[in-house]
Amino acid sequence: MEQIERITLLSSREIEKMRRAGHLAAQLLHHLGTLVKPGVTTLQLDEEAERWTQAHGAKSAPLGYKGYPKSICTSVNEVICHGIPNAKQVLKNGDIINIDVTLIVDGYHGDTSKMFFVGEPTPLAKKLVEVTHECRRRGIEAVKEGARIGDIGAAIQEYAEAQGFSVVRDFVGHGISNVFHTAPQIPHYGKRGTGKKLRAGMVFTIEPMINVGTHEAEILEDGWTALTRDRQLSAQCEHTIAVTKDGYEILTPYPGEDE
Ligand code: MF3
Ligand code: CO
Ligand code: CO
Repeated sequence: MEQIERITLLSSREIEKMRRAGHLAAQLLHHLGTLVKPGVTTLQLDEEAERWTQAHGAKSAPLGYKGYPKSICTSVNEVICHGIPNAKQVLKNGDIINIDVTLIVDGYHGDTSKMFFVGEPTPLAKKLVEVTHECRRRGIEAVKEGARIGDIGAAIQEYAEAQGFSVVRDFVGHGISNVFHTAPQIPHYGKRGTGKKLRAGMVFTIEPMINVGTHEAEILEDGWTALTRDRQLSAQCEHTIAVTKDGYEILTPYPGEDE
């Protein structure tokens, strides 16, 4: 996550590879979503993700990445991100879960995540997930050649805080290509008109993490699981986005959804 590193502009040939990886990642996410229900363990989701990925001739980027032990991240309730699938974690009615998948296809990465409800959500959980989705949508809408990185974070932060929620600072979106995490960093908070200018061919993720209470995070002893300091709910959703001359392209379109 070096901020000083220079930002790569991808060729149309490379963007086509990102599109193939991104579309496959979104299909996997949709498939895993159909399996979410009370009684399922997060390890079962992980095992199915790995099986599906191999069957589609792709590779899971998280597995072995900086020592990460599984193929996907499963972040339940107060977990902000990087929850590790576990046989002991049984999903129960009312839980909310973020499933985050990253596939490598022909050397390029598709990174996307989404919230799913286990059974019936509480009204607060439902609002949090809706607001988080709208945050991502507003962040993406800010993307076009000539806009600035700070415009994305500002759009997200203004909306999240107006709805009474907070924006996580400790984790940010990232440049992505044949490298999983690279420049630029994309904070989900910030000020309009600040930060680097966007240029066609840049590809990065927008993946806001929105909390009901404090924005502060804490990492468990496993070195990965990030959770809210106050143990209130957190939600996240992620797309991989290419900057184009007149706006953006979502490289990880979720089946049946526009954004
Ligand atoms: N997919 C996550 C992201 O959005 C990163 C997961 S890294 C892992 O950037 F090692 F935790 F899998
Ligand atoms: Co990401
Ligand atoms: Co991700």
